[in-house]
Amino acid sequence: MKELYCVIGNPIAHSLSPIMHTALLEQNHLDASYVPFLIEKQDFTTAIEGLKALGISGFNVTSPFKEDILPFLDALDSEAKACGAVNTVVARNGHWTGYNTDGIGYLQGLESIRTINETDQILIIGAGGASKAIFQALLHHTNASVTVANRTLEKAVKMVAGTAHRAISLAEAESQLADFTIVIQTTSSGLTKENAVLPIQLHDLTVGTIVSDIIYNPAETPFLKEAKAHGAIIQNGLSMFINQAAIAFELWTGIEADRDLMRNSVLKKLGGK
Ligand code: ATR
Repeated sequence: MKELYCVIGNPIAHSLSPIMHTALLEQNHLDASYVPFLIEKQDFTTAIEGLKALGISGFNVTSPFKEDILPFLDALDSEAKACGAVNTVVARNGHWTGYNTDGIGYLQGLESIRTINETDQILIIGAGGASKAIFQALLHHTNASVTVANRTLEKAVKMVAGTAHRAISLAEAESQLADFTIVIQTTSSGLTKENAVLPIQLHDLTVGTIVSDIIYNPAETPFLKEAKAHGAIIQNGLSMFINQAAIAFELWTGIEADRDLMRNSVLKKLGGK
């Protein structure tokens, strides 16, 4: 019987996940569909029970449901447990396991630039859901030193609690910027006209520092433009987006995902940007 995969969220109309996954399903001649479902908050439980009743094979979860899905899962992988958030569900014979592939997806993208080692000093700006996933991946899969800077300092302090890593204010991040070899921008500042300010100024950035932004549309955020002007090696959020989806596909099917195919299908949709 044809298998069903989906992504649930709100909003969901502009999600590029169906494009990537459909390209992969077709390339691998799998008799399966991947569709977007818009779910209203008040209908969440009914919708999830519906997916279960329909025998869905797996699905992605995006904003604002990454935490809401937790009570419906039978098991959680370590990454999802540490983040308290799930972006991928694998369903096998009605048994649902939750994963969080965002952090590992980010790390795969970062390591396509170069291997991260114990001499790396990494600054993560922001302490929201994406930041948490990236922090956990760095914690579990690298031996770099990580510093989390956030506008609301308490959130960063909470994130690093119980680890050997540091939390600092945005002002401290700005003044200590020269110490970092990698800077990861995870905040929503700079994303819209209403929120157009850079989270920190980049005057003290060391030439050759890797600076990444988890946003991929626009391809060059104001933060990345500024970083490039200061001699940084820049990377936008497209690699993270592609890799998190690739890992989800691999969890569902056991087949290695063709990341070039995924990238091309996304870039085509974004108009070659
Ligand atoms: P996500 O889940 O996508 O990571 P989020 O949980 O809404 O998003 O978190 C947004 C992050 O952007 C937070 O770290 C937020 O800082 P606060 O915790 O102080 O709210 C940060 N942020 C948003 N706008 C910002 C701005 N103008 N300057 C600095 N940080 C900003």
